[in-house]
Amino acid sequence: MNGGSSGVTVLDLEPAASDFLEQAIAGLASVPPTLPSKFFYDERGSDLFLQICELPEYYVTRTETEILSRYGAEIAESIGDNAELVGFGTGAGMKTRMLLDHLQNLVAYVPVDISKQSLTESAEALSREMPSLEILPVCADYLQPIELPTPSKKPDHIAVYFPGSTIGNLKPEVAQHFLTRVCRLCGKSGGLIIGVDLQKTTEVLEAAYNDSAGVTAEFNLNILARANRELGADFDLAQWRHRAVYNEQAARIEMHLISEVDQTVHLGDREFYFAAGEKIITEFSYKHTVEGFSALARSAGFQLARYWTDPRKLFAVFHFTTL
Ligand code: AVI
Repeated sequence: MNGGSSGVTVLDLEPAASDFLEQAIAGLASVPPTLPSKFFYDERGSDLFLQICELPEYYVTRTETEILSRYGAEIAESIGDNAELVGFGTGAGMKTRMLLDHLQNLVAYVPVDISKQSLTESAEALSREMPSLEILPVCADYLQPIELPTPSKKPDHIAVYFPGSTIGNLKPEVAQHFLTRVCRLCGKSGGLIIGVDLQKTTEVLEAAYNDSAGVTAEFNLNILARANRELGADFDLAQWRHRAVYNEQAARIEMHLISEVDQTVHLGDREFYFAAGEKIITEFSYKHTVEGFSALARSAGFQLARYWTDPRKLFAVFHFTTL
């Protein structure tokens, strides 16, 4: 537990450093080599991600924010009164604020995020602004089963909020398992508010993940820098290049790190050889259709209540309820 100056206490279920080592070795040893995208978000990575959200090419955050600012009141009304709001991956909390401002008689807010720093800072800031709201932050990998704290007052229902299209970073079968767990957490008369990036042209997508300022490249390369810092690996960052491509058939952006030369990298007690041009896959970002995502959620036990989108249909915010 971490007690902040504002009285907010963070429940610390942060994965151990040994998880990173184990999963990095397993990923690099697989064919093709991979590194799990959840390890992007150390302090530097979280900061770079905030910069990505501001980029002119990265329409994702801006569009979701526009939808929330336009329809926040409607979304809150759809959720209903006396809820416990559980936020998954709500990070700095800007989007959550846009809902919290409209929710009536919220019983408690349980933000769950893997990035301890942004979680703590945003929970403390929120607690200063809404001192009567019970805030129970949890630092954890919410993609794994976790036990959440129980608020002191019983809510009428649980609403899970999962913004940012982070669901897109999961393969469909993993997303289905995750949503099934979320559905169980929501229980009877619960609901899920989820932000989902929609399918669009390859040009728009590839520009968003290969920005001209090179911030996404730095974000991608930071996973290697983090492996060097935390695990004592010896990646030479100058010998790796970022590339993001849209795989239209699979409807996903693929983030790659391409080896510029033949090279050997050491990690733990292992050696990994990469030929020039060989890639490490660091992230998939799936793009959905409204129908396709509704069907995925249905297979996890949800039914579509409503959804909201922007005029260009770049992004959608869905409200699903439990069946
Ligand atoms: C967090 N997630 C939804 C982002 C995405 O768009 O898939 C991560 C990201 N990767 C590169 N740019 C942003």
